[in-house]
Amino acid sequence: MNSMFVIHAERILTPSSPGPVRGNNMMKISEFFDSDIVIEDGVIADIRKHKSADVKANLVTPGLFDAHTHIPFVGSRSKEFYMRSRGKTYMEILQAGGGIHYTSSLVKNASLEVLVEISKDFVRKFTEHGVVGIECKSGYGLDKENEIKQLKAIKLLRDVVPNKLSGTFLGLHARPKNIPIDEYIDEMKALLKYIKENSLAESVDAFCDKDVFLPDEIEDFLLYAKSVGLKIRLHADEIENVGATKLGVKVGAVSVDHVLKIGSEDIYVLSNSDTVATLMPSTSFYLGESYAPARDLISAGAGIALGSDFNPGSSPIYMPSFVMHLAIRFLRMEPEEVLNAYTVNSAYVVGYKSGLIAPNYPADLVIWKTSEFLDIPYMWQENFVEHVLINGRMVA
Ligand code: NIG
Ligand code: FE
Repeated sequence: MNSMFVIHAERILTPSSPGPVRGNNMMKISEFFDSDIVIEDGVIADIRKHKSADVKANLVTPGLFDAHTHIPFVGSRSKEFYMRSRGKTYMEILQAGGGIHYTSSLVKNASLEVLVEISKDFVRKFTEHGVVGIECKSGYGLDKENEIKQLKAIKLLRDVVPNKLSGTFLGLHARPKNIPIDEYIDEMKALLKYIKENSLAESVDAFCDKDVFLPDEIEDFLLYAKSVGLKIRLHADEIENVGATKLGVKVGAVSVDHVLKIGSEDIYVLSNSDTVATLMPSTSFYLGESYAPARDLISAGAGIALGSDFNPGSSPIYMPSFVMHLAIRFLRMEPEEVLNAYTVNSAYVVGYKSGLIAPNYPADLVIWKTSEFLDIPYMWQENFVEHVLINGRMVA
């Protein structure tokens, strides 16, 4: 049966072209006033001058995509927030067996069903704040059985939430204490084919940083992952510059993430590649670290996606309004750049055709209560989301 649904918008803001949008093009936005978005069978059929409508909106933008989260996880690490506020560093806490190791101990003890239930709740909160697509990662299993359990949870989650999800295998997230590192990397490598064949993930990721995994240790792993058909993501140069960004570009990563500590050479290499930089200013905020050089990246021509890094340790944040606030304030991104980064570029990184209000794009949309886009990051605590549509279906 054909279904048609029309939204009358006082204002429509959308990226102007498919992602990834790079450099100066991130300033390009299309704006329509007093127009109707015509949706047929979940797909945008037309944007026309206002005639008649089923719903009236102040502002409509594409649905947001969060390009980097650590769902599924359980528990909180608020004690570490306190320890960091009194001078301990993220890495000291990790080395002492806390941090990722602590969350891993909780995840190992959680059943698959519990992981799915908790994740479902997280995803609902994202949706209520305008997020239609989310990248989810393993990385708290840290052994074969529990990494696979996390990936299965992500797969099962797809059946119980309406959102567009992608799964990433992050077995190389921390160095387990009870097994030699070469052996551990080999064990994780041995899972890659199985993961691909059973559609347990679309991508792999690794925490490539000092005292975690160095470029030399993981290059073969990443190339092998690519050869079995997985895309590459990388936690790159977040705490220290270890050459992770250059490695990401070398192995053809879809995105290098964080890149807080990159220098001019890295910026040059990244900007002259197809790799996108996924930035998560909430992590800098929570860790008290520096912010990524977003302006230099954009000036050099790089494409930027945004994400929350939602996890229990370095960024317990799921609200895109707060991430946008930090992006405008500390990454010094322009509102137009933020909109491109959070929609069409993040959708590209997560792996979906979305993020554009244009004919033949899925009707993944947010209807906002304000007609002023800047209100959203400015009053980040206020939830301006009125409705969220995924493939034309109202999900919030
Ligand atoms: O993106 N850096 C590594 N991974 C996460 C933190 C995960 C955690 O601390 O639990 C990050 O910051
Ligand atoms: Fe992360």
